[in-house]
Amino acid sequence: MKLLGISGGPTQSSKTLLAVNTALGFACKHDSNIEIETLNISQFNVQFCDARDPSKYEGDARILIDKIIDADAYIIGTPMYRGTYTGLLKNVFDLIPNEAMIGKLVGLIATGGSDHHYLALEHELKPLLGFFLAIVLPGVVYANNAHYSQGEIGSEELMVKLQQLGESVVNFNKILPIDRLSIIGALGPSIKRQSLTSG
Ligand SMILES: Cc1cc2nc3c(=O)[nH]c(=O)nc-3n(C[C@H](O)[C@H](O)[C@H](O)COP(=O)(O)O)c2cc1C
Repeated sequence: MKLLGISGGPTQSSKTLLAVNTALGFACKHDSNIEIETLNISQFNVQFCDARDPSKYEGDARILIDKIIDADAYIIGTPMYRGTYTGLLKNVFDLIPNEAMIGKLVGLIATGGSDHHYLALEHELKPLLGFFLAIVLPGVVYANNAHYSQGEIGSEELMVKLQQLGESVVNFNKILPIDRLSIIGALGPSIKRQSLTSG
């Protein structure tokens, strides 16, 4: 199982990135056979989606797209920006092919200034993953700035939740049927993505 962390924060010292990496660490501790990797999107020189066919992107965009296609499951984190996920993260979802995440398990993490925008993940990020026919774990880990202190996670409660998330992704993935990609893919509408550019 290749478990890919994706962190959608633009800052170098992202609290969200720290939370994603912590959850991945717990997942790996729970099952040392899994492969883990984190995509810190801010470290990639990713162009904006320009509506070309996803197979035509090159450079860092190509690397990101291929890693997402290649993964079996994900832990996706975002800081809350203006009551939703970041534009940086949305751009990644605009770049990948429609089929990239069909039937694959996703655990979600967000960090906000406060807890006020907790439901934005239910109403905005989960529906986006619904488009991709991904299987999203119920609930999310929602952190706020008070859970962090001096570049570390300063909350035992948050650590426990990140551990539960990391372990749940591993456990749920084991009980999903092996052919879920074809089963779930068949349930969705057939939406052909057309290249709108000549490139
Ligand atoms: C442009 C911008 C918009 C923000 N909007 C919100 C928001 O709507 N709700 C919220 O709770 N926090 C908001 N915040 C605060 C961040 O979500 C918060 O500081 C978070 O911890 C940043 O995570 P990071 O360290 O991973 O970048 C915003 C911050 C910025 C820079």
